[in-house]
Amino acid sequence: MDFQTKLEQLFQQNNERIKEVDSLDDLNQIRVQLLGKKGPITSVLRGMKDLAADERPKVGAFANKIRDELSAAIETRKAQLEQAVIDAKLASETIDVTLPGDPVVAGTPHIIIQIMDDLESFFMGMGYQVLSGPEVEEDHYNFEMMNIPKDHPARDMQETFYINNELLMRSQTSPMQARTMEKHDFSKGPLKMISPGVVYRRDDDDATHSHQFHQMEGLVIDKHITMADLKGTLLAMCQHVFGADRTIRLRPSYFPFTEPSVEVDVSCFRCGGKGCPVCKYTGWIEVLGAGMVHPNVLRAAKIDADVYGGFAFGLGPDRFAMLKYGIDDIRSFYTDDLRFLTQFSQEG
Ligand code: DAH
Repeated sequence: MDFQTKLEQLFQQNNERIKEVDSLDDLNQIRVQLLGKKGPITSVLRGMKDLAADERPKVGAFANKIRDELSAAIETRKAQLEQAVIDAKLASETIDVTLPGDPVVAGTPHIIIQIMDDLESFFMGMGYQVLSGPEVEEDHYNFEMMNIPKDHPARDMQETFYINNELLMRSQTSPMQARTMEKHDFSKGPLKMISPGVVYRRDDDDATHSHQFHQMEGLVIDKHITMADLKGTLLAMCQHVFGADRTIRLRPSYFPFTEPSVEVDVSCFRCGGKGCPVCKYTGWIEVLGAGMVHPNVLRAAKIDADVYGGFAFGLGPDRFAMLKYGIDDIRSFYTDDLRFLTQFSQEG
């Protein structure tokens, strides 16, 4: 058999095989067998040395043509088989987009944050700035500037976590009054601010006390501010938080930084004032402390106390939340029990 016929046969036989092979491994074997060093085409090319000189180029060219065609057939089949592998994978991994997804557990703001956010938007609506101050505070601001000098008995209840003689974890948000007054430029208008944040005290940890809790300070300074402004503001705030039917009453009290000072009671939101266990049968619930800013506090902040005056208040978001939702243990806020916290999910 001459070379040409042999090569043609080789092509015929293998071209069919290549088209029919159905695995990449088998195809690779065929490629090695046919086109490798020990394959039939190589052996034809090697045998050319025995041919007549004028035959060699013809046979050589034909053998190369057959090799190229087989090699192209192998590449074509390879591409088809690879595509088939991808198609099979895609088919087996088809996603049913109509299946319900895995539920995503969404968090919810802490109940105290919710109370504070709500109060912040309430006060912002009345033109107050919302300011935050340092939790590591100077004795100077926490006490001295608030009219509580070193030997003042009011320190006893609040002498607290000291870092050194001059620095402590603030025991109240009141120092923010002094910090704000010092900076305020009255030519730009009155000072109206609230300052929410965490405070620290060496309280016994029991159901109504925690060594760490929240306060929100409020301060308004301008000319001609009266106690009626204080009362109207706090009435609006209490109605916003505890219900539109609430009334408030002011009882005389004492704070070093206000004169006169008051405790503010709100009419009981459970019984409407008739008397029930929530208000301990008094009809009233104590909700915050307040008063008219003491002239000493104004003077310490270099404000002319003969021209300017105002009111201040300090409320406890923890206490607000406990009252509003009937929570009997303040520690529930800080122990991170999801069974407790998720009850206040805003998703409803
Ligand atoms: N700082 C006071 C406290 O921790 C709360 C307070 C009472 C703040 C009366 C005030 C206020 O601004 O006028 O007990």
